[in-house]
Amino acid sequence: MGIIIRPEPLDSSYIPAKLLHREKEIGIIRDLIITPLSMGNTTSAILFGSPGVGKTVTCKRVAREIQDHVAVYENFLAFSSIKLLLQDVLLKIGRVTLPSGTSMEYVFRALRQSQVRTGKKILLIIDEGMNAFRDQDGIYNLLRARELHALEMSIIFVSVDNPLLFMISGIRRMQFNPVIIKFDRYSADELENIISDRANLSLEHGSCPPETVRFLAETASGSGSARVAIELLQKAAYLADHRASRTVDPDDVRAAMAFVNPYVTESKLSELDFHDLLLLLSVCISLGDGTETGIQSIKESFEMVCEEYSTEKLGMQSIYSRLRELERMGLIESRIESQGQGMGTSKTVKLNDLPVSVLREKIESLIRRLS
Ligand SMILES: Nc1ncnc2c1ncn2[C@@H]1O[C@H](COP(=O)(O)OP(=O)(O)O)[C@@H](O)[C@H]1O
Ligand SMILES: [Mg+2]
Repeated sequence: MGIIIRPEPLDSSYIPAKLLHREKEIGIIRDLIITPLSMGNTTSAILFGSPGVGKTVTCKRVAREIQDHVAVYENFLAFSSIKLLLQDVLLKIGRVTLPSGTSMEYVFRALRQSQVRTGKKILLIIDEGMNAFRDQDGIYNLLRARELHALEMSIIFVSVDNPLLFMISGIRRMQFNPVIIKFDRYSADELENIISDRANLSLEHGSCPPETVRFLAETASGSGSARVAIELLQKAAYLADHRASRTVDPDDVRAAMAFVNPYVTESKLSELDFHDLLLLLSVCISLGDGTETGIQSIKESFEMVCEEYSTEKLGMQSIYSRLRELERMGLIESRIESQGQGMGTSKTVKLNDLPVSVLREKIESLIRRLS
């Protein structure tokens, strides 16, 4: 048997029992939206933050907690208008299907009737909800649902973008004053806890050692995304399983990164000129199986590679500046190290995310196309 005991918690649709590091945000939603709603005060909120910071999962968790009212979760990507979205809400809360072509008025009336019947207030969560603001007539009716349609409903819009960017003047004029809740990116320490929790839920005890958890967290911390972190854990665990290992190792994480992020690297590589590609290839060659290499070794490999591809060699100055550019693009990472007193410094280079063999293959195929 492999090390993956329960695969579900490694899936991005999994809703964990415990949401780490979102207590504050959940508290704000409770205090400013849910409690007021149960006392009869409807509000709207916009919850925003970059991808993978837990917006959707937090909303789903909050929705589950609600008992005396109804919470409905919708994703606006599935609808072309607010009216169609509301018809789906109606289907969910009242099991009522309206014929297509029903007017907005009628949909609201049916929602209102259903509310009168059940006596339950509605919390509507609209995920990926920013496009809803393009439906001007719909949004007007939705935000004014209480005055226009006597519907007691609070709404949480979820968005990747800062809402101030899309607050078009028409909506400003409606005196729409939502509670705005920002979800920050997770720090490496927070990601470490989230990964460790998922590993405990899904993998054999001890198969994902603390060093690997830390490495996963640091690798994902550039995006601050729990989704990236968990996807990396999932892929790394499957790769470890595949090679029949009892532990997930840092190299599994690097290989996993190539699966999670292949397009990013490919698009970065396509921006490089011929000499950059040869230089990056030299870094790969010089790295071999190791984790780091030095500038002298890179220079030697580079000279060999230039000869092989019969192209002119470059001076040290040029090598340095090209390496800096590769580093700026996030393809390599470097560190300057003191060689001890009076011995000067040396530069060591390592690869960020890709296993050497994968990167090398990609570069060589690009070079073949260029030469
Ligand atoms: N605080 C957290 N604790 C545990 N898992 C989390 C947390 N935040 C996010 N996740 C997980 O990360 C993934 C992405 O979260 P999601 O809510 O879909 O992000 P967003 O909607 O912000 O893009 C999901 O699998 C989710 O379960
Ligand atoms: Mg989401």
